[in-house]
Amino acid sequence: MTNKIIVRPDGPLVLTGNIIIRDASGKILLEDNEAWLCRCGQTARPPFCDGAHKKTCFEDAADINDQRKQKLENSDAKTDTRLEITVRENAMLLCNGPVTISNKQQTQSTTRNKVALCRCGKSDNKPFCDASHKQ
Ligand code: FES
Repeated sequence: MTNKIIVRPDGPLVLTGNIIIRDASGKILLEDNEAWLCRCGQTARPPFCDGAHKKTCFEDAADINDQRKQKLENSDAKTDTRLEITVRENAMLLCNGPVTISNKQQTQSTTRNKVALCRCGKSDNKPFCDASHKQ
């Protein structure tokens, strides 16, 4: 199963594939084929979206502008590989494993083996982390 992340405009990251999500201590939070993760920073149930983005008027067009785009070698052979996500404490979602990140219309995309995604809603290069969470 190919791992995919759809970035929803003004909303969460929708993950599908072979997914495991751990907290910073390594404890498994979810092991599934689908997950909806908050990227507005306002959820009461981190790292999962609880719909708070609708009340907080989170705005992001969900454009994919990947300045560190990778080209995966033998991507067909790697598509079954698990996507491991670590929720860093007061920081980003660290994703390890092959994944294609797209906007909702799938007109923009990038493919990575490793990527840090914003979950505080403050990055100037959403959906990617730019370390704005430190401020
Ligand atoms: S994106 Fe839905 S609660 Fe943050």
